[in-house]
Amino acid sequence: MTILNKDRASWIHGPSAKCETVPKGSDLPWGIVLLGAPGVGKGTQAELLNQRLHACHLSTGDVFRAATQSDCELSPVMQEALGFMRRGELVPDSTVWDVVRERSGCLHCAGGFILDGFPRTLGQAVSLKELMDREAIRLTAVINYELPLEEIVARLGGRRTCEKCKAVYHVTERPSRVEGRCDRCDGKLFQREDDRPESIKVRLEAYERSTAPLIEFYENEGLLVRVRATGSPEEIFDRTVGELESRRIRVFAHKLLEAAENRRDS
Ligand code: AP5
Repeated sequence: MTILNKDRASWIHGPSAKCETVPKGSDLPWGIVLLGAPGVGKGTQAELLNQRLHACHLSTGDVFRAATQSDCELSPVMQEALGFMRRGELVPDSTVWDVVRERSGCLHCAGGFILDGFPRTLGQAVSLKELMDREAIRLTAVINYELPLEEIVARLGGRRTCEKCKAVYHVTERPSRVEGRCDRCDGKLFQREDDRPESIKVRLEAYERSTAPLIEFYENEGLLVRVRATGSPEEIFDRTVGELESRRIRVFAHKLLEAAENRRDS
């Protein structure tokens, strides 16, 4: 079961909302991007990583879903974005980028960040890279989760989400104790509109067309780490953390080397 971190106010509601607590800072904050097809388990892993690494879980899908429940009247652009989401199509880059850019302060969060569901197109990846170069933010790694198609479809079709606390279950793999009710808050469990078969098909096609090319993009950047997404969430998490730790040691060594070279040149 994954629980949405309550304290992501600045990400979910925008920069005018302040997070209640800010994680302790680190000399080398985590900068992680999670890639992988819809339903591969990115959100599940992001929550486990958040609990272990304290880096903030930044999901663009969560921002759009929160907008559907907002009391405020939605702008025409946001209403249009939610239409794309319901059908399983990607929201246009310009809208997604507006959402991320106004929340870019979250990329400076003291504990670091875990981007989940963004970037999702080459255009988004290039915009992110430009912003990160400008603001001197570094990525530690881009994790690409890999899973056979039939398992992806089974994970999506069986997902249930709590309407109150947003905890995520699976009808057979991670069922709640009482059918249809959340273990944590007794909220009602529902099936996401985009987890219905007709939307799943559209989402998987959009992934193949627009998001899969990012694997090559990040491979060329020397950031890509491939992780097998079979087995239990805990097994996948252990694999992910193992890869991240060894990657971070390399980034740290590189930083020391750079500092030594700068001292020598000055
Ligand atoms: P988003 O919310 O990002 O959805 P997604 O990428 O389609 O990913 P999901 O949340 O569906 O799956 P997941 O990989 O997180 O899997 P989970 O951990 O839940 O985006 C939704 C929509 O918003 C998009 O379609 C688009 O319209 C729009 N959007 C968002 N960002 C955008 C962007 N940047 N550009 C354009 N449009 C954007 O797991 C799935 C299920 O499997 C759960 O039931 C879980 O319990 C179960 N499970 C997890 N791990 C395991 C395991 N190891 N074994 C068995 N079951 C497991």
